[in-house]
Amino acid sequence: MVGAAAGTAVWAAADGAAGSPPRVSIGTGKAPHTLPKLPYADNALDPVISSNTIGFHYGKHHQTYITNLNNLVKDKPDLSAMTLEEVVKASAGDPAKAGLFNNAAQVWNHTFYWHSMKPGGGGQPSGKIKARIDSDLGGYDKFKADFAAAATTQFGSGWAWLIEDAGKLAIVKSGNAETPMAQGKKCLLTIDVWEHAYYLDWQNRRADYIAAFLDKLVNWEFAEKNLG
Ligand SMILES: [Fe+2]
Repeated sequence: MVGAAAGTAVWAAADGAAGSPPRVSIGTGKAPHTLPKLPYADNALDPVISSNTIGFHYGKHHQTYITNLNNLVKDKPDLSAMTLEEVVKASAGDPAKAGLFNNAAQVWNHTFYWHSMKPGGGGQPSGKIKARIDSDLGGYDKFKADFAAAATTQFGSGWAWLIEDAGKLAIVKSGNAETPMAQGKKCLLTIDVWEHAYYLDWQNRRADYIAAFLDKLVNWEFAEKNLG
């Protein structure tokens, strides 16, 4: 297992504990921010995502964003008093706060990404999320093609997302650390398409990584919890 602090604040309500809101809460923790525990073993997503990738991606990249964020908010009472989500929203779109935004948003995005996957996931959803994909996105096959296209065509580093915007599901992509959460959109699911997410396992075959994510890893229960 990758060593990790037992940080629980970032996704304190992720398991839907009694008294928690139905929507999964990510980004509610305040400084000092800690690396959240992975919701599965570091080899649980193998062979789509190997423990080697998790070791670098979660253990090094995600941890580095957290370390950088803590250094940026240290001795700044206004920023230290904010939740992670508040820091992201307060720094979004401000070139003078680009470093703060990039690190805070990447902390949030990665926590959201780890939860967007589960061992034995993927394939067609059921229940409420299926109904919404059918009504808003033209059905699962069209969702799958459109999500894969968004993730594949994101030029350079970034993310693809399933979101709810103005009461309707939508598929969007974002560059670098950009996140729909900063604009108040309800994020349901994401895939990281930075090369560090897949290069050790898939090298240049981003499209194959995306297809395997959709077929074998998507955590639809998480998406449905986010839908609320
Ligand atoms: Fe990443």
